[in-house]
Amino acid sequence: MRFTFRPLHPHFVAEVTGPRLQDVHDPADLARLRAAMDQYAVLVWHDQPFADDEQLDFAQRFDGVLHARTSLAVLGRNRFGNDALTDVSNVDEHGDIMAADDRRRVSSVSNRLWHTDASFVDPPGRYSMLSARVIPPVRADTEFADMRAAWDALDAETRAQIEHLHAHHSIAYSRQVLGFEFDAAERDKLAGVVQPLVRTLPRTGRRALYLASHASRIVEWPVPEGRLLLRDLIEHATRPEFVYAHEWHVGDFVIWDNRSTMHRARPFDDRAHRRELRRTTTLDID
Ligand code: OGA
Ligand code: MN
Repeated sequence: MRFTFRPLHPHFVAEVTGPRLQDVHDPADLARLRAAMDQYAVLVWHDQPFADDEQLDFAQRFDGVLHARTSLAVLGRNRFGNDALTDVSNVDEHGDIMAADDRRRVSSVSNRLWHTDASFVDPPGRYSMLSARVIPPVRADTEFADMRAAWDALDAETRAQIEHLHAHHSIAYSRQVLGFEFDAAERDKLAGVVQPLVRTLPRTGRRALYLASHASRIVEWPVPEGRLLLRDLIEHATRPEFVYAHEWHVGDFVIWDNRSTMHRARPFDDRAHRRELRRTTTLDID
C-alpha cells in the first residue's frame, strides 16, 4: 500500500502518509487519493514542501481545471502572476503585513465566516488544496465541518422540506455581511449563481447540505424566511460533533471537498504575525 490513511475524526478527515505528492503521477495512485476524498472529504498531509508551480501542476493532475475567478482576482491582487494560485495570506506584494484597512484584506477576513469555496461561480469549486508556507507562532486554525453528516442528522420532516430548494450564492453578499462593498464594476464581475441546497455526491450517492456564507437567499422562499432557514441550517451543520479543527504547521498540505464540507479560518493576531498559505481550487466539471 503506497498510502496510509489515519482517521482524525469520527465522521471525516484522515491524515495521509506516503510519497511526496510532487512525485505522485501514476493514475492509479491519483485515483486512490480521489477515492479517499470520497470517503473522508478532507485529507491532511505533513511535510509536503510545495513550490508554487508544483502545487499548480499537482492540482491539475489531481482534478483538472482550476478556479481563477476569485474575489482577489477581481480586486487585482496576485503576487504570483497566476489567478489560479490564490494568495491566502495577510501580507502585501512586499511581504509586509497589510494595513488593517487594506481593501484586499477583506478576503482573508471574510474567510472567517463558514463557507465553501467558489459556490458563487458556475461550475462551482470541487477540491481546494491549501499549502502552508508561513505559519504564526500562535494558533491560527482552519475548521472544517462535514455536510454529509449534517444532512444525515436532520429529521425526515426537515429533509423533505428542504431537499428541493435552491440558494443564490454571491461573494458580494458574504463580503457585504462584514460591511465591505464592491463597486459597480467589481459587482458585475461577481454576479452570483443559483445552487441546489442539497447535493447528491457522485460515486458514493451520499447527500450533503450545500451551504455557505455566500448563500444570500432561498430562491423559492421570501427573503427573510430564506435567510432564517440558512442560518438555522448553518448553526445545525457546524455543531461541534461535525467539526474538525486543523492546527497548521509549515509544510502541511490539506485537500478538502467543497461539495461535502464547509470551512472557516479562526482569528489570530494578524497585525502581529505573518501567515501565508497558497490555495488551488478545481472546478466541479466531469
Ligand atoms: C481558503 C480559506 C481558511 C484559512 O483558503 O479557502 O478559507 O484558515 N482559508 O486561511
Ligand atoms: Mn475558503
